[in-house]
Amino acid sequence: MKTELVTPSAENISRAAEIIKRGGLAAFPTETVYGLGADGLNSEAVGRIFTAKGRPADNPLILHIESADKLSDCARDIPDAAHRLARAFWPGPLTMVLKKRRHIPDTVTAGLDTVAVRCPGNAIALSLIKAAERPIAAPSANTSGRVSPTSAAHVMEYLNGKIDIVIDGGDCTVGIESTIIDLSEGLPRLLRPGYITAGQIEGVLDISLETAAIASERPKAPGMKYTHYSPIARVIIVDGEPGEAAAYINSQAGDFGVIASSETKALYKTGTVVDAGSRANPDEIARGLYAALIRLDHTGVSHIYCEAFYDTELGISIMNRLEKSAGYNIIRLNK
Ligand code: TXA
Ligand code: MG
Repeated sequence: MKTELVTPSAENISRAAEIIKRGGLAAFPTETVYGLGADGLNSEAVGRIFTAKGRPADNPLILHIESADKLSDCARDIPDAAHRLARAFWPGPLTMVLKKRRHIPDTVTAGLDTVAVRCPGNAIALSLIKAAERPIAAPSANTSGRVSPTSAAHVMEYLNGKIDIVIDGGDCTVGIESTIIDLSEGLPRLLRPGYITAGQIEGVLDISLETAAIASERPKAPGMKYTHYSPIARVIIVDGEPGEAAAYINSQAGDFGVIASSETKALYKTGTVVDAGSRANPDEIARGLYAALIRLDHTGVSHIYCEAFYDTELGISIMNRLEKSAGYNIIRLNK
């Protein structure tokens, strides 16, 4: 199959929407990462997403809708909390898990009786969903298990020849995947931390969030059990004061890459150093992290040492992804 890479002109967006309506696959930008979209109501089309990505069939997908008004087309028994969160954070990087409507295919939800829904905060994504006139099922547009794409070039690297079209909307502005909250039963639970922080959600709902599902052995978001966000190189997180982490990394032998920050990059005497952004501005690190991992993979290094960024709430979401990239391989210098 030939994969077209196109600009986000109105004409190209309607073409991508036509492809989706006909059961094909279109990758598109969102504010978080690029998504690999198919008609969310067409089971066969959704099946093609799993084939293109090599994704296990028991890992459900997020439905992307054009506005909160469409929530009731996908979900039922929607609690007031969901409406309040939609008002506060949509369009934006928040996904809500709710009880599903019967017509949502089992391929989307992996047979669960819940469905994950999000209204993305990216004008191209919203135009595409409107033009397709249906919810678009879309996981991140990477090969399963690998680092999520934050540019169209990343998507082409993973999926060229396997999908119909890629809309190039430039670099994603958030850079890590949406926060996922489960509102399908009892107390709201945070399933995946993200750019919208637990604190912000608690502020809107005026409750304290359960986050037990994240740490538990049997996570509620089925995707959390698989290898995730992994470059080809082995990732090692070095958690310590920036100076100490740099000293530790400088003392390592071999051919390695380093993910540093603007403040610390000059401390490294060895290795291929990538600046993921400023520690004073975790938004910048979130935006730059996946591109940094992918860039280091391109250099062919066997190891990537990465500084830790636990200091802020967004930093904790960033570290959730990095810990998975590293397979929980973390050197704690100060413990
Ligand atoms: O920012 C994002 O959320 C991006 C963009 C493209 O929207 N999408 C994304 O999709 O990250 P994906 O498929 O890479 O991750 C979706 C996660 C998986 O961990 C999956 O298991 C979980 O959402 N999920 C989907 N449906 C669920 C459900 N009904 N219950 C619990 N978890 C669910
Ligand atoms: Mg993903």
